[in-house]
Amino acid sequence: MIVIKDLCKSYKKDGSTEIKAVDNVNLEIRQGEFTAIVGPSGSGKSTLMNIIGLLDIPDSGSYTIDRKEVSDLSVDELAEIRNKKIGFVFQQFHLLPKTTAKENVEIPLIYSDKKDISELAAEALKRVGLSDRINHIPSELSGGQQQRVAIARALVNNPEIILADEPTGNLDSKSGVEIIEVFKNLNRQGKTIILITHDQKIAEHADRVLKIVDGKVTEESTVDHSNHPADKTEILDTQNSEEGTSVHTQQRSTKFRKSFWRR
Ligand SMILES: Nc1ncnc2c1ncn2[C@@H]1O[C@H](COP(=O)(O)OP(=O)(O)O)[C@@H](O)[C@H]1O
Ligand SMILES: [Mg+2]
Repeated sequence: MIVIKDLCKSYKKDGSTEIKAVDNVNLEIRQGEFTAIVGPSGSGKSTLMNIIGLLDIPDSGSYTIDRKEVSDLSVDELAEIRNKKIGFVFQQFHLLPKTTAKENVEIPLIYSDKKDISELAAEALKRVGLSDRINHIPSELSGGQQQRVAIARALVNNPEIILADEPTGNLDSKSGVEIIEVFKNLNRQGKTIILITHDQKIAEHADRVLKIVDGKVTEESTVDHSNHPADKTEILDTQNSEEGTSVHTQQRSTKFRKSFWRR
């Protein structure tokens, strides 16, 4: 559904030095996948997310979404695809402070012609487990609950893709894992999830992890969640590992298929 080829985006700093925020990135994301993009601060994750989310345009390269080349589309066509297909979740929850959870979730529907806005918002809040909090305002909710409201708001238009930029960045680790569980659930229900994080442990909850360093995708691994006995402690050289090799991670053993990205 998403195919990116030789994508580049640079920023000029101090008028002269150029920073390659996204540097020749190639990647593919298929419908129904749960992909994490992981990398340190400043590695170009948000720049890449903004391009994938049609919020920003690349300098060069190709980006096709559902076989449509993005550079061929008008601003209005981009906005239409963005509104229909993509739900956004950010580190800051961006909720309106004096507005209830349900009213916050209704916001994307205000300009739609849908009649049942209230029911749709209540349904989205139910999907993130917040049915009992729909009339609370953000200050009456925990950070994790506020982020779940933001996820419900991203879901309410029924997008195919959820794009989340550091969604656990403002949360303690327990609430962070709860938010990841919400994404896992949505993925099981068919949503394509793209999770952006600097946290390797968070990233490994996804089925597939793309590592980005200095604007380049350097590594891709597939995580097999079926094999994580807590007591397994093998540590193997991941550089030379073949498909099916067990690699111990801090929390659990995870099967990796590592392949360096060559396209
Ligand atoms: N609007 C901008 N103007 C200038 N430089 C930018 C801008 N946005 C990002 N950058 C630079 O691009 C690089 C990648 O930034 P970003 O995509 O935000 O990384 P990440 O999300 O991984 O922290 C950084 O060096 C950052 O300073
Ligand atoms: Mg960022």
